[in-house]
Amino acid sequence: MARKLFTFLSSLTLIFLLTSLATAKPTGFSRTLSPSTLGLRKEKLTHLRFYFHDIVSGRKPSAVKVAEALMTNTSSTGFGLVYMADDPLTTGPKRRSKLVGKAQGIYASASQDELGFLMVFNFVFTEGKYNGSYLSLLGRNTAFSTVREMPIVGGSGLFRFAHGFAQAKTYTFDPKTGDAVVEYNVYVFHY
Ligand SMILES: *[C@@H]1O[C@H](CO)[C@@H](O)[C@H](O)[C@H]1NC(C)=O
Ligand SMILES: *[C@@H]1O[C@H](CO)[C@@H](O)[C@H](O)[C@H]1NC(C)=O
Repeated sequence: MARKLFTFLSSLTLIFLLTSLATAKPTGFSRTLSPSTLGLRKEKLTHLRFYFHDIVSGRKPSAVKVAEALMTNTSSTGFGLVYMADDPLTTGPKRRSKLVGKAQGIYASASQDELGFLMVFNFVFTEGKYNGSYLSLLGRNTAFSTVREMPIVGGSGLFRFAHGFAQAKTYTFDPKTGDAVVEYNVYVFHY
């Protein structure tokens, strides 16, 4: 008797399970995948070091002012100022050292109390195995601090799924022209 009841209950459970499986329909726009489907194996950590040349002076600047607020010129931090950059990235601090990519993006004065830029950049690489891949940075740059840390929030190509951080350290800054060379050390996890 007990055994029959057990069999009966087991069948009920099975029927219940099958029904719930049948009703757990895919929603049509998402599915779960194994990482190997995208060829992803082991996550690795990469360190990149390059120099960022922000040239705002001369006949061929790499960064240009695109906007400012009416009150920007009365703010000690240039609050409201927006620059668009296509800044060379090189292996050494000299402008003529080997070009490895460009930093394409926007920096904008977003702080009224100290110099603090909102940084929205793609580091677009054009050399070696990273040619064609880029890293995306979104962060806060208090440009007068010795070292500024900014998050790397993603990337493309070899940098798909990238996450990490960048440390920026001013190498030279010319207060007369506004030109700057900044050393970047970038640490990223990616596949
Ligand atoms: C700030 O710039 C505005 C134009 O945007 C100009 O009219 C004004 O005189 C400037 N003020 C100062 C203090 O330079
Ligand atoms: C980088 O890739 C582009 C496009 O595929 C190619 O034209 C260029 O020669 C490559 N540069 C280097 C240095 O490999």
